Amino acid sequence: MLDFLGNLERTHLCGTLRASDAGKNVVVMGWVNRRRDHGNLIFLDLRDRTGICQVVLDHDLVPEGHKKGEAVRPEYVVAAVGKVRLRAPDAINPKMVTGEIEIEATELRILNDTRLAPFSPADDAIVNEETRLKYRYVDLRRTEMQRNFWLRHEITRAIRESLSAEGFLEIETPILNKSTPEGARDFLVPSRVNPGSFYALPQSPQIFKQILMISGFDRYFQVARCFRDEDLRADRQLEFTQIDLEMSFPRQEHVFAVVEHFLKAAFAAAGVDLPTPFRKITYDESMRQFGSDKPDMRLPGLTDVRSAFTDEQLATLQIDPALPVVALRIPNVGELSRKEREDNHPSFDLKKGAKFIDDFKRLAKGFPESAARVRELAGASDADFVIIVAGDPTHHINASDTKFEGRLSEREINVYAAAGNFRSELAKKYAERHKAFQVTEEIVQNADPKSGKIIDGSKAFQPIWIVDFPMFEYELASGKWVPAHHPFTAPHEHDMPNLVTDPASVRANCYDLAMNGLELGSGSIRIHRKDVQQQIFASLGMSEEEAKARFGFFLDALEYGTPPHGGIALGLDRIVMLLTGAPSLREVIAFPKTARALDLMSEAPTTVTEQQLKELHIKVVLKS
Ligand code: AMO
Repeated sequence: MLDFLGNLERTHLCGTLRASDAGKNVVVMGWVNRRRDHGNLIFLDLRDRTGICQVVLDHDLVPEGHKKGEAVRPEYVVAAVGKVRLRAPDAINPKMVTGEIEIEATELRILNDTRLAPFSPADDAIVNEETRLKYRYVDLRRTEMQRNFWLRHEITRAIRESLSAEGFLEIETPILNKSTPEGARDFLVPSRVNPGSFYALPQSPQIFKQILMISGFDRYFQVARCFRDEDLRADRQLEFTQIDLEMSFPRQEHVFAVVEHFLKAAFAAAGVDLPTPFRKITYDESMRQFGSDKPDMRLPGLTDVRSAFTDEQLATLQIDPALPVVALRIPNVGELSRKEREDNHPSFDLKKGAKFIDDFKRLAKGFPESAARVRELAGASDADFVIIVAGDPTHHINASDTKFEGRLSEREINVYAAAGNFRSELAKKYAERHKAFQVTEEIVQNADPKSGKIIDGSKAFQPIWIVDFPMFEYELASGKWVPAHHPFTAPHEHDMPNLVTDPASVRANCYDLAMNGLELGSGSIRIHRKDVQQQIFASLGMSEEEAKARFGFFLDALEYGTPPHGGIALGLDRIVMLLTGAPSLREVIAFPKTARALDLMSEAPTTVTEQQLKELHIKVVLKS
């Protein structure tokens, strides 16, 4: 039999009661986390968002409440009325913040019962993720999930406050849009009143935020929902949230300063000090030093070890002398058996013409001096695992091998990238032996924002700006240079004259922010002149008519007094993922999709009725 709430009012939250509350009459409400029946005494651990407190039902004092206490089960929703009292010294639980007190109940009301869920939010046991997502409402009750979302809220609030204080205006942009080119597939929404026409959900608010600059808002931001129909990964969802901003008359450094300021505030909200300013590196250097454009700076970089070998030695080892020869070092791995080494091989991408040597014993037999020199150049100690990555001379040569002055060639990039990917795969694999990774985990676990203490995060979180990306990529199939970024990205002013004559040399005025091997954000100074914008559309192979059909409104707007402007967008979900130490975005998004793009709780997507389709003038034809 369930009780009514009646006019009972909650006076306190469970996790907030302390010894100083002893003697107070209180009413707490929440879920039964655990129940212990000691005969005459029943103990209920009552849980709400703030934590857990102990309620005692004493048969002699509250016979009716005690009887109800016998009936309640974990996850029942109850209200307890009673008085806070200090626990006897031997009953104090130092592990609970409310461990010094308990509530001596004078009344218990059972507000709701529950079916038995397939798992208990009170347990730490690892539950199958599909079950967690299906019963997400139970899953989200877990302390860890509550903390993640509390932290997400605090981080978002800190960012909003930081940007507002710097004069950014939060403005919402439409969800029903014309397509925005961010490189993924659009989600389309059919228009009922315009048969055959579709809106696209925004991949980002890119065009609108630029138009807001043309509209004179000077500084815009938005906690913006974005939608991209792409393959999901641990760090990718179909729906995600960006901290999106745009400013007028900025230089790169201004955008960087704004971002550093709000990220510092976001990290402080999570109890972590993030030193600023962040490091900065060019794209070419990042590839050379880390084999990645989102380098994990917690690990040692790549070392150029070409000098450890003579040309003859490289020929014997079947290494291309014209390509980079680099060593990567994973610290503290210890000696690996042949089998252990071979287990690593599948994570190396051989396809792109790179090869590796991980057997130093064999190398040392044939080339003792080179092997020793490689370890010396890489600064390796005995416990470090060192691998050489180099170019495969037999790899197919094609047009993309063309070397352009002052620019890394496709083949060079392939060798660096193979080394970089291998480096991060192995680092993840050996993470538990890796001190830098442990430091990050410790900080994430120990940061307690509620205590007001701020921990030094300089070793655990290593942000870096990547700048000077090439503006164009050479497209083999068409033999053309195509923009490597979204088409609103401006070239460097210095490189403007080379746009047509020497596209290979043109650098884009864009930047990425990477942290711990994750791309956190991306932005650019934009094109603000119609002639340049048209030129870029043309270089994408878009005819004037096509550009007009897709972006005519934007090209028109550019003609009405467009100020120089630029901005950036950071993935909020990714920031929260880093600060909670979560292994995937699904831990920090309340209702995420699975890798198969399903919401297991609501079972979206579903079919719709014939009537709905008819109204939308749509016919579904399923291919068998
Ligand atoms: P970009 O496409 O690089 O740039 O996106 C910016 C940042 O958004 C995050 N992000 C994602 N997070 C989760 N799931 C996804 N599928 C996903 N895709 C992107 C990443 C990424 O760095 N309009 C430009 C920004 C600009 O130029 O101002 C844009 O959207 O953290």
